[in-house]
Amino acid sequence: MTETPRDPSDLRERAVTALTTARARTAGLTETVDDPDLTAQHSPLMSPLVWDLAHIGNMEELWLLRNVGGREPMHPEIDPLYDAFEHPRAERPKLPLLPPDEARRYTAEVRGRVLDLLERTPFEGTDLLADGYVFGMIAQHEQQHDETMLITHQLRRGAPVLTAPDPAPPAGPPVSDGEVLVPGGPFTMGTSAEPWSLDNERPAHERDLAPFWLDTVPVTNGAYQRFIEDGGYRERRWWAPEGWEQIGRHGIGAPLFWRREAGQWLRRRFGVTEPVPAEEPVLHVSWYEADAYARWAGRRLPTEAEWEKAARHDPVTGRSRRYPWGDEDPGPEHANLGQRHLRPAPAGSYPKGASPLGVRQLIGDVWEWTASDFDPYPGFRAFPYKEYSEVFFGPAHKVLRGGSFAVDQVACRGTFRNWDLPVRRQIFSGFRTARDV
Ligand code: AVJ
Ligand code: FE
Repeated sequence: MTETPRDPSDLRERAVTALTTARARTAGLTETVDDPDLTAQHSPLMSPLVWDLAHIGNMEELWLLRNVGGREPMHPEIDPLYDAFEHPRAERPKLPLLPPDEARRYTAEVRGRVLDLLERTPFEGTDLLADGYVFGMIAQHEQQHDETMLITHQLRRGAPVLTAPDPAPPAGPPVSDGEVLVPGGPFTMGTSAEPWSLDNERPAHERDLAPFWLDTVPVTNGAYQRFIEDGGYRERRWWAPEGWEQIGRHGIGAPLFWRREAGQWLRRRFGVTEPVPAEEPVLHVSWYEADAYARWAGRRLPTEAEWEKAARHDPVTGRSRRYPWGDEDPGPEHANLGQRHLRPAPAGSYPKGASPLGVRQLIGDVWEWTASDFDPYPGFRAFPYKEYSEVFFGPAHKVLRGGSFAVDQVACRGTFRNWDLPVRRQIFSGFRTARDV
């Protein structure tokens, strides 16, 4: 069982870059809307943007200034407001939240002190400080909330405020279908070496899998439309019972944000209505929709272990890589990450990001639903707090892998695990399918 170790010498610079990159993105997501928009609740599924903003600052104050720096709380009375477990999202707009200006000032003040602290804190002595873990954790936390805020932007009604260039069309011959045979046998799942891997990605352990076939690219809008047009949403046999119940109760007949007009599928994307592009990976589907599509196609969702083996296992060396393309950090040539674009790239893009077996777009573009429940790995230890992963383990949540166009590279790895309820479809979720050999 082997995985690739990392050179720790550049971790301090990485921490500064990761924190600064996250803050620039947070600014872009919170300064493009006016104050009423920041404090409004755009969907009961989401917090007001101003909650995310102050929560980002509050988590940073808690873990870095108070825990690492030993400082007194700056505003102890606000802690309960920004504790995600005290108040469900739907309740948050009614709380006496910091108004936008104060939220900005607080979050910026915390950051100023953190950059100071980071300069004089040795990356050693405790598990939190080793490899600068806690700084990396906080940068990942901010980026995760940036993705959450981008989801809020997508749900928001009104004129578009975000812009980004579209991804370039795929270079070379298009790969829009086909499958790859992943040979059976053991591989190393999870990691004990990646310095900023979160608790649920650890430890590295061996899994033995039967061989399986996996889609070369994520399922596209065009393929998904064939499922719709074949009456997929009207045939009970494709659906898990709870999924059938959900689509019936809510009258669901297409991915979220789609609508049919004059014989054409349109979608709303960050305030713009446009024809659904056939070649792009399907987005905003629930686990139940992904599962039903796969059954209709005579296939199934890959398990989480299958997904990770396809993404990391190098059949030549037997090692697990950090990413499908190798151990190098993601560059723009490898994957659609970091909100550089406001949409997935067409299926078949990023040939340089392919896995050794030729599987494309495993990282970036769309989060991929897997068949698996969110469970701990053997030897799991909650670190540094149970409310990140442990309280979510169990059959209620399904695992998503690979990251979307809205994920920053600091929070994206071949081992990174995301999870959500199987009914969720406002997230940047898609899928690919698999089958037994
Ligand atoms: C890992 C995306 C499911 O947003 O609920 C943010 C990340 N945890 N703050 C979430 C998280 C605490 C989490 N997900
Ligand atoms: Fe959080």
